[in-house]
Amino acid sequence: MNILLLGNGGREHALSQKISTSPLCTQLYILPGNPGTSQYGENIDGSLSDFNKIIDYIHSQEINMVVVGPEQPLVDGITDYINLHTPQVTVIGPSASGARLEGSKAFAKKFMARHDIPTAKYFECTAENLDYGIAFLHTMQAPYVLKADGLAAGKGVLILNDIEEAVSELINMIEGKFGKASSSVVIEEFLSGIEFSVFALTDGQSYLLLPEAKDYKRIGEGDTGLNTGGMGAVSPVPFVTAELMAKVRYRIIEPTVKGLNKEGIDYKGFIFFGLINVQGEPFVIEYNCRLGDPETEVILPRLESDIVEAFEAVKYSSLHLLECEFSPLSAATVILVSGGYPEDYEKGKTISGLDKVSNSFVFHSGTRFEGSQLTTAGGRVLAITSLADDFKDAVNTSVKNAEAIHFDGKYFRSDIGFDL
Ligand code: AMP
Ligand code: GLY
Repeated sequence: MNILLLGNGGREHALSQKISTSPLCTQLYILPGNPGTSQYGENIDGSLSDFNKIIDYIHSQEINMVVVGPEQPLVDGITDYINLHTPQVTVIGPSASGARLEGSKAFAKKFMARHDIPTAKYFECTAENLDYGIAFLHTMQAPYVLKADGLAAGKGVLILNDIEEAVSELINMIEGKFGKASSSVVIEEFLSGIEFSVFALTDGQSYLLLPEAKDYKRIGEGDTGLNTGGMGAVSPVPFVTAELMAKVRYRIIEPTVKGLNKEGIDYKGFIFFGLINVQGEPFVIEYNCRLGDPETEVILPRLESDIVEAFEAVKYSSLHLLECEFSPLSAATVILVSGGYPEDYEKGKTISGLDKVSNSFVFHSGTRFEGSQLTTAGGRVLAITSLADDFKDAVNTSVKNAEAIHFDGKYFRSDIGFDL
């Protein structure tokens, strides 16, 4: 079959690698893709917001399956659009209605309340009930968690220690600090614990559990400094015991899949559960309607089964019959970023040394070809993933290879997994 993958990051590079090795895949196209994905399929120029162009392309290339990488097109309804115009095509990614799990934090909180899924206490605040929101904040203890309801490029969460500052930021958010995304704000109880992520692929009825991962979001070693898209990740996560995972399955994943089904929400795709372990009890911090980046770069290298077979099972609602194998090895990824990231940074720096990498996969995030020269084209540039018996050895291999790669301003964290 012909498969179209949407997206252009490290996640899509890792997906393209797995999809291309499937005997079920005749031709793989990636829109828009990056220099990494071009090793596994044909990159197609185009914008993820131009749904009509995507439909034209589905017709002209006789596409049978579309796999959606990032959240924005899902929240904007790409799945519904493809289902409407080319219903014969299988889409891996939820409808806009399902993507609200990520696209609206208030929707996600209400959904969790309806289905008794453990999460932090909250209040949904808008301009209409601002007085109540401020009063609610005063009943909480520091730190105060304020979340813009809508997508805000990963920047919509504020965690503040001072009540006066929290009140004034709440007002700023309602007044448009994050545009329309923060016209509604979820005020949340702060949960204290260690975070991890769990991923499931669902056909709307049953689900396939993927390995858990832990990502490292802060720019600085020891989890300090500004938040980023992710500086590294490991999988599996040593503190995620069978007992904790059983709680995650029965209290969180199953009620989520059942809840979507019961509410008639069409959801065929990945669900990302951002979780926190509070003294042995898992709580949901957030849902995402897609795979994570850089988590995908540690989960998929451990997948030993055919991913396209799993996508086919989603199509036929037969995921419950599928057996998937994952390597017992530990995977770690270390992200090379542009100097200055996550604030302003320069692009167009020459990348060299990729030929010196050994025993790691290099996934491209923000790179491009200028002529035949590979250059930097984003904040997160490359993800260096290694597998080993122990995550520490995997991190060491990735760090060694990260040192062998060069571009002006290169920065990475060498302490991924430091807290495990
Ligand atoms: P989110 O975009 O919802 O994942 O929030 C971004 C980050 O803020 C999370 O990864 C957590 O580190 C932190 N965070 C969000 N909500 C809470 C909470 N209720 N308690 C503690 N930390 C939180
Ligand atoms: N690594 C977190 C995310 O993909 O949102």
